[in-house]
Amino acid sequence: MKISNDIKYVGVNDHDIDLFEGQYMVKNGMAYNSYVIMDEKIAVFDTVDAHFGEEWLANVAAVLGERLPDYLIVQHMEPDHSANIMRFVERYPRTRIVASAKAFTMMKQFFGTDFFDSRLIAKEGDMLSLGKHELCFVTAPMVHWPEVIVTYDNYDKVLFSADAFGKFGALDVEEDWACEARRYYFGIVGKYGVQAQALLKKASTLDIQTICPLHGPVLNENLGYYLDLYNTWSSYGVESEGVMIAYTSVYGNTKKAVGLLADKLKEKGCPKVAINDLARCDMAEAVEDAFRYGKVILATTTYNADIFPFMREFITTLAEHNWQNRTVGLMENGSWASTAAKVMTKMLDGCKNTTIVEPVVTIKSAMNEDNVAQIDALADEMCK
Ligand code: FEO
Repeated sequence: MKISNDIKYVGVNDHDIDLFEGQYMVKNGMAYNSYVIMDEKIAVFDTVDAHFGEEWLANVAAVLGERLPDYLIVQHMEPDHSANIMRFVERYPRTRIVASAKAFTMMKQFFGTDFFDSRLIAKEGDMLSLGKHELCFVTAPMVHWPEVIVTYDNYDKVLFSADAFGKFGALDVEEDWACEARRYYFGIVGKYGVQAQALLKKASTLDIQTICPLHGPVLNENLGYYLDLYNTWSSYGVESEGVMIAYTSVYGNTKKAVGLLADKLKEKGCPKVAINDLARCDMAEAVEDAFRYGKVILATTTYNADIFPFMREFITTLAEHNWQNRTVGLMENGSWASTAAKVMTKMLDGCKNTTIVEPVVTIKSAMNEDNVAQIDALADEMCK
């Protein structure tokens, strides 16, 4: 794949992957992107996952032809991108490694060497000339590890953006960008909105015509769309109008109440009701929805004087990811000593600018007339 006359794609698709980063289901696989700039000097950007070393080195060799690379630019040390550094160095021993100081510390940790004799430390604003292509390094700490740099090529106006603007999914599968980019962003980078905002601010000073991320497709059209979404996501803004309901139900009584609530929300004009059964859905999809919509209803049962385990995991994940700026409705069910609403309220304490609306729906075993009225009132509040 050609990005420009001088920039070539040398990444790989992974359809054998079980769970990405040990936890995310990726039904359409994963892409580990890598790029080569061919100029008077040659730079290779990032390696790929450990399982694809040979395929990647063959891709690189096919682009290089008779020439040898001058620089391996390591933008991110997470092993999905850095696992083949040693193999690359064995194949091309005269290549200089370019990375942040923190990345070299991590190389020492991962590989036992920090390449003292062949390293070039890239600091904020440092330039590296390849000939026509002048590369400028920009630090992007915590997007999504502390050592990350992104790189701007001012000849082709390309931003090599590391994990930013990445998504789940291999490149040989057609799928909607936003859906899998959102699930990727909130699962992996979501906690670091402030740092992602800082990177967007730096990017806004650059004339970017193409974004080359380390996962997902190269973006070269309608960049405003992607930048706007990243701005909404990283500022914890509301992307879509509607209500997200996350629930757990043991014998179906809470589920029935959630169904009535969803019907009432729709009757009252709510443009979209997204329902997630936390015991059965992909938790990362539910987390993504909680960040996508501005209004969220949590419905669960009292369990071991606490809340049902999937709801506990869900709220814990939201809090860990800095979930904020949301309106929340609560529904609890318990046959005796209900504590669910109290526990959920306490768990949400640390989520900034989160407002819990009244009434809280309290079901004792199964829905009764009072509950129907509470559900109607909660639907009214959520539709305001
Ligand atoms: Fe794609 Fe943070 O590694």
